[in-house]
Amino acid sequence: MDHPSEIKITRRELLIAGAVSATAAAVPLAHAGERAATDFSNAPFITKVSLRVNDRPHTLHLDTRTTLLDALREHLHLTGTKKGCDHGQCGACTVMVDGVRINSCLTLAVMHEGASVTTIEGVGGQDKLHPMQAAFIKHDGYQCGYCTPGQICSAIAVLDEIKQGIPSHVSPSLTVSPLLSADEIRERMSGNICRCGAYANILDAIVEVGGAS
Ligand code: FES
Ligand code: FES
Repeated sequence: MDHPSEIKITRRELLIAGAVSATAAAVPLAHAGERAATDFSNAPFITKVSLRVNDRPHTLHLDTRTTLLDALREHLHLTGTKKGCDHGQCGACTVMVDGVRINSCLTLAVMHEGASVTTIEGVGGQDKLHPMQAAFIKHDGYQCGYCTPGQICSAIAVLDEIKQGIPSHVSPSLTVSPLLSADEIRERMSGNICRCGAYANILDAIVEVGGAS
């Protein structure tokens, strides 16, 4: 075993070495900060993106890092689509792209060049409600309403998925078309969170529109 004095020296050396390396690490960081002011390699890359949103063509010039959600809300001012978690966990941002529902916070707008996007504004309005919107009102399928645009977009797409025979985790078979049942709807709507807990009424609304048993 080493003599205690040798250990003491080693510790001191270690502290000195640590201080030196910390200083050394700080110097490049300071220089990096200076470089950032003149280095344009991190400047946003702007690109043209053409989207058809709610049957209207739009050409946007976007930072390539812009999510579809931010393109809709911040650039097209379609604020019906909500930003809840911005992490793909709540479903508040659900829209339909070429008829398929997606979480618009999890995808970049540039990935959808030429796509057709439907938001809640394109589903229907006060003068002409979509049957799903009318059913949500009838069955009181919301309280604060924050999740509702995403719930309705998702619900419309869910009925279409079942109609197309796309199976879910609760479908009894991958080869036989799924039934339009409450269980199927619950499973498929599980990505749409409602903090107000209006789930039972949301289910009733979807069941009515879909004609499930
Ligand atoms: Fe997109 Fe929550 S905001 S899933
Ligand atoms: Fe409030 Fe769903 S109605 S979060």
